[in-house]
Amino acid sequence: MTAASGQRAMNLPVAEFQPTAENQPATGIVTAFSATETAAMDAALEAALRGPRGANPLVGAVVVDANGRQLVTGFHRGAGTAHAEADAIAQAAAAGIDLRGSTMVVTLEPCNHCGRTGPCAQAIISAGITDVIYAVDDPHDPAAGGAATLRGAGIRVRSGLAAGEALELNRHWFQAVAAKRPFVTLHIAQTLDSRIAAEDGTSQWISCPESLADNHGLRGRIDAILVGTQTVLVDNPRLTARDASGTPAGHQPLRAVMGLRDIPADAAVRGEDGRVLHLPTRDPREALSQLYTAGIRHLMVEGGSRILSAFLTAGLVDELIVYLAPTLLGSGTPALNGLGISTLAEAQQWEWDQADGGSVRSLGRDLRLHLRPQHTESLEPQPLRAGAEPAMGGY
Ligand SMILES: NC(=O)c1ccc[n+]([C@@H]2O[C@H](COP(=O)([O-])OP(=O)(O)OC[C@H]3O[C@@H](n4cnc5c(N)ncnc54)[C@H](OP(=O)(O)O)[C@@H]3O)[C@@H](O)[C@H]2O)c1
Repeated sequence: MTAASGQRAMNLPVAEFQPTAENQPATGIVTAFSATETAAMDAALEAALRGPRGANPLVGAVVVDANGRQLVTGFHRGAGTAHAEADAIAQAAAAGIDLRGSTMVVTLEPCNHCGRTGPCAQAIISAGITDVIYAVDDPHDPAAGGAATLRGAGIRVRSGLAAGEALELNRHWFQAVAAKRPFVTLHIAQTLDSRIAAEDGTSQWISCPESLADNHGLRGRIDAILVGTQTVLVDNPRLTARDASGTPAGHQPLRAVMGLRDIPADAAVRGEDGRVLHLPTRDPREALSQLYTAGIRHLMVEGGSRILSAFLTAGLVDELIVYLAPTLLGSGTPALNGLGISTLAEAQQWEWDQADGGSVRSLGRDLRLHLRPQHTESLEPQPLRAGAEPAMGGY
């Protein structure tokens, strides 16, 4: 993903963004950017990929000086941590780098709200940065409006550089925000032959300790974890985030159980903190709606087979993490029990996700595979229309 050309043409209403043929980048609105600015945006897009997907988008920021030298690079490490702009500014402060008079190039409009990490627009103003270039508007209502705040402080603000790449970087996050539903990560711990439990129902543990630790790390930063009623009845899981010694993590996800049957009174998932939610439905959309209303913005779906299949069939998965154990069972519960596909032309296509440590990693004896749904329409901005008026928009 690069902003290879210094010309980028797109001003999409991001909050409404859906990947259809109709909303391809506009050809008439053009903003010119220098090679230095374009190179900085490339570096910011690369940096963004180092962060994890989830409730917040991947964002990268690079600060360049008047000579085009890249001074510092920041990225967002996930919900509750510093935003990319604040990360870059903090690094500069730690290294004694003066950012006054510099240009910040960032993949998303700087935020304007006092959330868990403070408004980035204010941090940029305080750092003395005089120019800001961002790729796409922030569609998230509480955070939007950063560009206006920056302009109000006399900062020159331009947008639209590498907008197509920036939308693509967070395509599923934008869709989840627009649909007002949680971002959904689907987790599968399976054998080489795609089994998540043996014939007798045993499934603990298919994954090696390193994979389990990775999964618990993920549990420690999501908002909620969801399983089907059958998994609760068969496995009686706690669904908490714990370290290898069993010590609970500081942050615990809400535990959600989906299905019409009641959760047994003595089920471990009930825990002692009361943070369990029964979703008496078999409709994934309804489950997501209830979770969104409960404040959940990042959900991890852990299984079993029918629940995984229901979310995949509904096209409601934004990220797929598969822990693949070098184990064969030959029989038992398959990871999926049907996606309504009868011919190869209907197959769901996925692509390798390079974010957050890459698409394939070794974890102990397992492999961790990281994917996201493939899209069919190109988001590449169209070539400039002959004779198009460059509109230096956004000052
Ligand atoms: N290796 C792993 O990562 C992993 C993780 C979790 C589970 N597992 C294994 O998976 C197995 C359980 O899988 P499973 O498929 O039998 O059960 P499941 O997916 O955990 O739960 C299925 C139940 O959920 C309810 N449900 C809710 N929405 C549904 C929908 N759209 N379609 C169908 N059912 C829906 C139904 O119960 P109601 O009648 O209550 O509505 C259904 O019986 C267990 O052996 C467990 O060990 C493995």
